[in-house]
Amino acid sequence: MDTQLREAAKEFMVRYGGDTFPSLFRSAKGCVVTDDTGREILDFTSGQMCATIGHNHPAIVQAVQEAGEKAYHMFSGMIPEVVARLAQTMARDWMPQGLSKSIFINTGSESNEVALRMAKMYTQGFEILAVGGSWHGVTGAASAASFASDRKGYGVHVPGVFVMPEPNMYRPYIQGMDGEASALACLEIGLKMYDMASTGRRSAIIIEPIISAGGVLVPPKSYMQALRKAADERGMLLIFDEAQTAFGRIGHRHAADFFGVTPDIMAVSKTMGGGLPLAAVSTTPEIEEDIHAKGFTFYTSHVSDPLPATVGLAVLRTIQQERLIERAQSMGAYLRRRLEELQSRYEAIGDVRGEGMLLGVELVKSRETREPYHALGAITTQRCYELGLSMNIRRRPERGSVWRIAPPLTATQGEIDRGVDMLDEALRRSIDEIARNRLVPA
Ligand SMILES: Cc1ncc(COP(=O)(O)O)c(C=O)c1O
Repeated sequence: MDTQLREAAKEFMVRYGGDTFPSLFRSAKGCVVTDDTGREILDFTSGQMCATIGHNHPAIVQAVQEAGEKAYHMFSGMIPEVVARLAQTMARDWMPQGLSKSIFINTGSESNEVALRMAKMYTQGFEILAVGGSWHGVTGAASAASFASDRKGYGVHVPGVFVMPEPNMYRPYIQGMDGEASALACLEIGLKMYDMASTGRRSAIIIEPIISAGGVLVPPKSYMQALRKAADERGMLLIFDEAQTAFGRIGHRHAADFFGVTPDIMAVSKTMGGGLPLAAVSTTPEIEEDIHAKGFTFYTSHVSDPLPATVGLAVLRTIQQERLIERAQSMGAYLRRRLEELQSRYEAIGDVRGEGMLLGVELVKSRETREPYHALGAITTQRCYELGLSMNIRRRPERGSVWRIAPPLTATQGEIDRGVDMLDEALRRSIDEIARNRLVPA
């Protein structure tokens, strides 16, 4: 371990939010990350939810090598062969029927900037309707439409953004209703409020089909169908932000397949580049033609870059060759069974939810009151890390304390078992610790 380097990180780096670990990190392979002491940690967050095919998969390493022999980067007006191939592959094999035109950029935030600009130009409106708990990124329009992140301190957001209460099946906003009825009622009320406030210059409804950072909330299918109808009735486009749900994570090609609802614009990112910065936005030829005629521009230094595109093609090929969509279903079901088994032993696990290998575990002080158990979440996450398991917990007063559990789709059953055993041990220790110290649960 190089203590000077740890000090350098403290002295010379800007802190960019969220908690960071005390150690530095050296390498990552498959489902395991190694820190600067050589300690191996099981990664149940797939990095920042990107490494669905495992860290540094040989196919990615080879793709980077291949791009090194051909090109990493080109003038943005030169379309590299590999980018044309990726666009064709997306249209043929991956995107919902009709969304056959794609643009390739780098990050999830950027993909939502593209999607929102497309919608505004197509409709000639500017109003955006989003849902609570969403996270679409940190850049201008994307952050204005995000409600799971902190909005304070950065001045005026892009105007014209409206928010509706999110569908939450475990914590229905409307008391006395079940999850689905409450979700649909929230949508109806949210739309009424929006219609009252609208200037008429409507543009798009944007949603993460599974609200991930907001607590791994899976809406009922009826909600997504109603959302499609609401967009159509208002002449708005429907945008799916599938940063986390596309390309196998949830045991389907994407959430549009899972819900049986096709958006007008789909943004994909994290899960496409396998850890390299690649994102895309796909839409219909009709929308593309219209906005092109109106002068649509999203000309960046790294649009259509060949390096991430080469990697993206390798990621998509690997998902098919290793049958990772099927694996997300089978291994996801196994992981879920193991978590439900923990739930049967720990009163504090109020809910286990999610799809495929995108699972949420919510902690409560009492199953009856469903009061969030933030202290247990914080201590257990820390104990997990000490035991060798990296987990991500989201703690929001209004939406509870929820672990997002999303190992790489390539994780072995042994790795899943090891991770769940560590979580079991960490929970046991933390509950003991709280009882021993008579900590008042916060
Ligand atoms: C659903 C969703 N959309 C967009 C983003 C933003 O992506 P990026 O961090 O790559 O800009 C995220 C990131 O967490 C996300 O989860």
